[in-house]
Amino acid sequence: TPVLVLSGVNLGRLGKREPAVYGHMTYAQLVAEVERTAAELAVAVDCRQTDDEATMIGWLHEAADTGAAVVLNPGAWTHYSYALRDAAAALTGPLIEVHLSQVAAREPFRHVSVIGPVATGTITGLGAESYLLALRALASRLSKSV
Ligand code: DQA
Repeated sequence: TPVLVLSGVNLGRLGKREPAVYGHMTYAQLVAEVERTAAELAVAVDCRQTDDEATMIGWLHEAADTGAAVVLNPGAWTHYSYALRDAAAALTGPLIEVHLSQVAAREPFRHVSVIGPVATGTITGLGAESYLLALRALASRLSKSV
C-alpha cells in the first residue's frame, strides 16, 4: 500500500496564499517534488489535499484499515481538531506530522499541536523539504521492517 501524503485545509492554495510565509511553490509543484523523491526512494505515494475535515478523517480511517504509513500536514486543524487527533491516534502504521513553516516561531496559537502527541515524529519549518524528509524517514523505517 502506498504512503498517504495528506495535506489539509488551505494547502491547495499554496503559491497564492501568504507567499511571504509559505513561498511561491504551488500545491501541484509540491506534489511533483514529493513524487520525484518517492520515485528516487522507490516508495509508492498517494498525495491528496482537502479542505473538508470529514474527508480527511475518512482518509485516516482508510489508512488505519490498510496499515498505510501517513505523512500529514493538517494545516490549521493541527492546532484544534481533536477529531483529527482521535483518527490519527487510531492509525496502525507510522505517522509523520509535517509543516512547511516554522510554527514555533509564529503566533502562539500555532505553538500547540494536538496531533504531535499521537505522531511518530514531526518535521517543521523546512518548506517542501519537510515533506521530503518525512518520506526519507518512512523509507528507511520501511526498509528496516522487512
Ligand atoms: C501549516 C502551519 C499551520 O499553522 C497553518 O495553519 C497552515 C500550514 C504549515 O505547513 O506550515 O495552514 O501547517
